[in-house]
Amino acid sequence: MKALLAVDRLEILILVDNSTDMLSSVKPSSESELSRHFKRGMRLIGGRCLCCAAHGFACLVTAWRNGASHSVLFDTGPEPDVLLRNVERLGVELASIEAIVLSHGHFDHVGALTEALDAIRARNGAIDVPVYVHPGMFRTRAQQMPDGTMLVIEDVPDTKTMQAHGAHVVETAREATLLDGMFHVSGEIARTTAFERGLPGHFARASQDDEWQPDPLISDERYLAINVAGKGLVVLSACSHAGLINVLTDARANFPVLPIHAVAGGFHLSGANEAIIPQTVEALRAFDLGVIAAAHCTGWRAVAALAASFGNDVLDPCAVGTTCRF
Ligand SMILES: [Fe+2]
Repeated sequence: MKALLAVDRLEILILVDNSTDMLSSVKPSSESELSRHFKRGMRLIGGRCLCCAAHGFACLVTAWRNGASHSVLFDTGPEPDVLLRNVERLGVELASIEAIVLSHGHFDHVGALTEALDAIRARNGAIDVPVYVHPGMFRTRAQQMPDGTMLVIEDVPDTKTMQAHGAHVVETAREATLLDGMFHVSGEIARTTAFERGLPGHFARASQDDEWQPDPLISDERYLAINVAGKGLVVLSACSHAGLINVLTDARANFPVLPIHAVAGGFHLSGANEAIIPQTVEALRAFDLGVIAAAHCTGWRAVAALAASFGNDVLDPCAVGTTCRF
């Protein structure tokens, strides 16, 4: 049976997200963007103080154990301006980032990678940064539009480019445990439910000379899991192309003795996947989660359905600058 060290506490700070919402009340265990700025000394508010939202996801994940902490950057968002602006506004110390985990090969999660590496190494004494990637994330992807046209998705930087920016690339499809055993990066996520079929209309090709091949499963996607003492697993799923229920089922299969306390990230129940909101919400009940922190590509219809089913004590909609504490 796999072991995952229990951490004393865990903090997830959303650096890039589709939404900005500093005014809505949050769970007592969470903190809004506005509260963070105020605690950091902001006494005059204006547009130049605040984070900006963008289609994408990035979060800083920090875990503490026996007084020592480790931090991972989980994805980078779509482009550098938004990431670096928000990092500065939120007062993130980039030198504390010891590893980057990329959830999958889409621009909205990887687009700021090279600039993130440059910025981290400008603050950490130019030490190389481990970057966890899946070998399947480097093919060119496209989304087929309703008229049949392929909307090509910007490529992820290749490993040579990553290395040129100071990445120590850890390329594997297998699971990995990092930073003193505090963080678990999953392997490929088992697809077990009948209703979660990936992203309809998603294609990939190895080179421009190849034909587009259907790629609805986006099998390079992985999740991050942390075991919080006294609570259980916190599962971070950036885009959930595997399907939220498949992600949680995979986490439970990997760590059968640990309860799953929380899931956070993008649940991709927007667009064509709005059709599976009812089945997802129904299947989610079996996990008896304490926290559902919905972000990025979850979509407002799914957030509304989750709120109606699980209530404000469990559902925690995230926006840029939100901190979730466990
Ligand atoms: Fe995404």
